[in-house]
Amino acid sequence: MLQKFDERNNNIQVFIKDQLYPREKAKVSVFDSSVQGGDAVWEGLRVYPEGIVCLEKHLTRLHESAKALHFSDIPSKNEIKAAIEKTLEANEMTDDVHIRLTLTRGEKITSGMDPRVNQSGPCLIVLAEWKALVYDNASGIKVISSSQRRNAPQFLDSKIHHNNLLNNIIAKIQANVAGKDAGLMLDERGFVAELNGSNLFMVKDGVVYTPFAHACLPGITRGTVIEMCRKNTIPIVEADISLTQFYNADGVFATGTMGELTPVVEIDGRIIDRNDATQQRVLTLFSDNIRSYCEPLK
Ligand SMILES: Cc1ncc(COP(=O)(O)O)c(C=O)c1O
Repeated sequence: MLQKFDERNNNIQVFIKDQLYPREKAKVSVFDSSVQGGDAVWEGLRVYPEGIVCLEKHLTRLHESAKALHFSDIPSKNEIKAAIEKTLEANEMTDDVHIRLTLTRGEKITSGMDPRVNQSGPCLIVLAEWKALVYDNASGIKVISSSQRRNAPQFLDSKIHHNNLLNNIIAKIQANVAGKDAGLMLDERGFVAELNGSNLFMVKDGVVYTPFAHACLPGITRGTVIEMCRKNTIPIVEADISLTQFYNADGVFATGTMGELTPVVEIDGRIIDRNDATQQRVLTLFSDNIRSYCEPLK
């Protein structure tokens, strides 16, 4: 699915480092680490009138990713919340909004990989855009398995939510070339990891399954679905799951902040039913309860 330009985003204000800039002036330096090495961490946040979905968990993951990459002077959660609040207020945004929150290692004094040449602290970017859910969750999506493997901890730990996204972008390109919506990525052992930008679940005989978070991002929406299933006594199992098991599932769905819960209706040409009763129950539980996961900024 190709996202379209939303005219409402023409005149947005973007927070960079310590102040707001109009869209056309919202830029980082050519010396910034994100330009030179994808050396940055990020979160996608969804804004509802009730607040931001699972805000605390997103800020914790941002902090833990930055700590793993040994960033210095990481802004506190309160500082980040203040920047988000300022940005939303300036844009008069309270609903139908997605925030791309990025923390780069900051500017270097000269080109180079060595983080010791980063001497002016990290750079926080709050990019809030008007954005509806990115997938058509009524029709579902079609996916294709990719030859590109998802990183396991022995390469680059998927628990770091970093901006070095080429691994996933290559999988997405393969899906685009094949005319499908997303690339399904396996781990280095051949088990299903996730889609290029969202986590995967399947249902079989009334049981919900999802891959272990060894080689996928431990998605926050994934965590919410697991929690909702447990609370509502829907059996949920984390497991090593093969492509064949996904082809023969009673239902498959993807999860992520950008699209929330999206039925997967085709994998590698195999049709997946989207009417499984257990899957319908999980999707309804999620849409009925997601706003109770919103946290106000103050
Ligand atoms: C590769 C990948 N998987 C899954 C997700 C979904 O994670 P979340 O539910 O935390 O948005 C994302 C979102 O950033 C992602 O980039």
